[in-house]
Amino acid sequence: MTNTISAAASGQFTIGGDLTVNRLGFGAMRITGPGIWDYPPDIEEAKRTLKRVPELGIDLIDTADSYGPYVSEDLIAEVLHPYDKLVIATKGALTRHGPNIWRVVGRPEYLRQCVLMSLRRLKVDRIDLWQLHRIDPVVPANEQFDVIAQMQKEGLIRHVGLSEVSVTEIKAAQKYFPVSTVQNQYNLVDRKSEDVLDFAEANKIGFIPWAPLASGGLAKPGSALTDIAGRLGATAGQVALAWLLKRSPVMLPIPGTGSVKHLEENTAAAGLVLSDADFALLDEQGRAAA
Ligand SMILES: NC(=O)c1ccc[n+]([C@@H]2O[C@H](COP(=O)([O-])OP(=O)(O)OC[C@H]3O[C@@H](n4cnc5c(N)ncnc54)[C@H](OP(=O)(O)O)[C@@H]3O)[C@@H](O)[C@H]2O)c1
Repeated sequence: MTNTISAAASGQFTIGGDLTVNRLGFGAMRITGPGIWDYPPDIEEAKRTLKRVPELGIDLIDTADSYGPYVSEDLIAEVLHPYDKLVIATKGALTRHGPNIWRVVGRPEYLRQCVLMSLRRLKVDRIDLWQLHRIDPVVPANEQFDVIAQMQKEGLIRHVGLSEVSVTEIKAAQKYFPVSTVQNQYNLVDRKSEDVLDFAEANKIGFIPWAPLASGGLAKPGSALTDIAGRLGATAGQVALAWLLKRSPVMLPIPGTGSVKHLEENTAAAGLVLSDADFALLDEQGRAAA
């Protein structure tokens, strides 16, 4: 591992053909309260964490209007605006009725409101990457895709991403707009989206694996990663992130944390290079555990 911590060591990916970021990003869902509701208990630590993000070379932050709700976007704007070479990727379509409660609403007029309000909270004229958090199963998909395409034409959105989608759904959306990224749950022990990842790689679509640390489970000592981590002088969480980065050149992990210490530890994974043998061993163990 290198001595200086920088996300640049993870390599780069160009989103939508014109927006180049370091591959290791930051997930800003954890700078909220329990149940991803309200402000975090230690708001000053959350702000210090955000301030540290660009200092560590991270230039891709993932958030959503529903985190808090609004808290994550508001804190990002408060601490980091004006954004200097920082891509803020946000999402819309999930409404919140309380802690841990998420309800999808994909009616076109609501999706437009999501974008307009995120623009206002993030204090930007255009969202670099806006992701449809979920396709609403009770609203015709073409109506959801159509309004997104219109907002992109109007210049409110630069690039469009999808979240928790199948290959069939990506292909359906591609008839309306270029799909620049896909954000599905994926980590060493959750491999349900392997086919979506392969499709993304073949089509140069950025793949943003959410819960890259299995919501913290892979960062705990005692996981299957501990042996390899011990040998490499790394932590289990760092090995899990290094495995993701080696898995595909389109992989853009966004580990989430509200702590400076964890952010620094996670970012150091950018400089951890696994041997082919360790990668294969982890792959096998991860599939068995999945
Ligand atoms: N598209 C979607 O539907 C969707 C769904 C969920 C999440 N996301 C996005 O994906 C991002 C990542 O997912 P996630 O936050 O759910 O899961 P994650 O990154 O796999 O894990 C985050 C959890 O692990 C802990 N953690 C982080 N670094 C650690 C470290 N070095 N040592 C020990 N514990 C550590 C965090 O607690 P601390 O805060 O204490 O560090 C937090 O509880 C989110 O932030 C969000 O941006 C998207």
